[in-house]
Amino acid sequence: MLSNKKKLQDMTHAERYHALTYGSRYTDEPIPKYELPEKGMPSKIAYRVIRDELNLDGNPSLNLASFVTTWMDDYANRLLSESLGKNYIDQDEYPQTTKIQNYCVNMIARLFHAPEIEDSVGTGTIGSSEAIHLAGLAMKWNWRDKLIKKGKNPGKPNIIMGQNVQVVWEKFARYFEVEPRYVKLTKDRYVIGVEEAMALIDENTIGVIGILGSTYTGEYEPIEELNNALEKLNKDKGWDVPLHVDAASGGFVAPFTDPLLRWDFRLSCVQSINVSGHKYGLVYPGIGWVVWRSKKELPEDLIFHVNYLGGDQPTFNLNFSKSASSVLGQYYNFLYLGNDGYRDIMVSLQHIAEYLTEEIEKIGQFKILSKLGHLPVVAFALKSKAIKKGYSVYDLSEKLRERGWIVPAYTMAPDAQDISVLRVVVKECMSMDMAQLLIEDLTRAVNWFESRQDRKSHVKKHRKGTHGVC
Ligand SMILES: Cc1ncc(COP(=O)(O)O)c(C=O)c1O
Repeated sequence: MLSNKKKLQDMTHAERYHALTYGSRYTDEPIPKYELPEKGMPSKIAYRVIRDELNLDGNPSLNLASFVTTWMDDYANRLLSESLGKNYIDQDEYPQTTKIQNYCVNMIARLFHAPEIEDSVGTGTIGSSEAIHLAGLAMKWNWRDKLIKKGKNPGKPNIIMGQNVQVVWEKFARYFEVEPRYVKLTKDRYVIGVEEAMALIDENTIGVIGILGSTYTGEYEPIEELNNALEKLNKDKGWDVPLHVDAASGGFVAPFTDPLLRWDFRLSCVQSINVSGHKYGLVYPGIGWVVWRSKKELPEDLIFHVNYLGGDQPTFNLNFSKSASSVLGQYYNFLYLGNDGYRDIMVSLQHIAEYLTEEIEKIGQFKILSKLGHLPVVAFALKSKAIKKGYSVYDLSEKLRERGWIVPAYTMAPDAQDISVLRVVVKECMSMDMAQLLIEDLTRAVNWFESRQDRKSHVKKHRKGTHGVC
């Protein structure tokens, strides 16, 4: 997130300083918001000032917009707060923490069916975004090395993906100078098309992306079909184009709810996979993972070795320092929940998503765009008969906010952007009781708009270059 430096001279006193609700008992000095205060204040006042400001944030338990974890249990909270001061990168100082990251990478590689004969590698990251940049860089380096070995001149690299990719893939393409080649969506296909993807590939393709759980609708892309078509194309053309799976959300859902679904290293072209530990891995924000099928897919040239913290430390990360707590939180979840625990949670989230889907359909004004059995997400658009009555999903989103629910409304990706949807991400903190209350409030909101048909609808258009959803 970018922040701008504000012009202090244009500000009113209230804009520039915190109100002295508590501070007045301790100090007459105004507390500046945008400048470092000359003098400090008692810690409890600083705490209160910040807590009060945060009261205006949404309630994380009612935040149905985000895939990211908003709740962990007491032991996890204890473990995390005890380890906040450990730097994850100090491998020599905190060797056990490094071992724990290794345990996690091993568990994840096996969860994703990395063959036992392969020497798979992986690393913890800040989230899927960093993981994706790393996987993309490895694909770019491998593509170039392979062409050079064949005695060919590498052209401009390109990468193939559906237009429904999360913004991180556009960032990767732009920051690392790779041409993004998008498979267009259609009015009734909101994920990549296999034939369309194959038609875009050439010798300069560094990889094809399959998403296990589209950010827009939660739908799994047809990864096995992509793999089979790619395998054939590679064989026919003598190419070696890999498949990367962006399993940011689905990587901790599908293995538990649909273990027979083949989307991971069981497929021959899948070379690397990213997953967000802070989504359905059930850890607070700040942890992602990337795993490569085999060490040979990770060019040695991308790995840096540092020795100034003591010992030789290989790193392949964009970031350097961060708290070790999220890695420990991930390992805690793995030990505490195990396979059974994750399965129970993910299955129950899917039941809640099914319940919501059925009840939203019963309201009669909505068309469901998400798919049952995929991510526990419900994405739904207003039917045209409702839109004609002069209200929109943006109106409904705002109306639900009055009751505290945060349900985002956004346009679908380019080429399907005429469709605006509401999306509910079902997370561990959503009980069936909450789901029932949400349905009551949604029904009430619809009835409210239906009874005011003379209203002008509040319609937002998708601006080029914007992502309505994250
Ligand atoms: C499919 C997909 N990929 C990547 C990301 C980025 O993940 P992170 O927030 O962990 O960086 C997201 C986030 O929602 C996503 O849905």
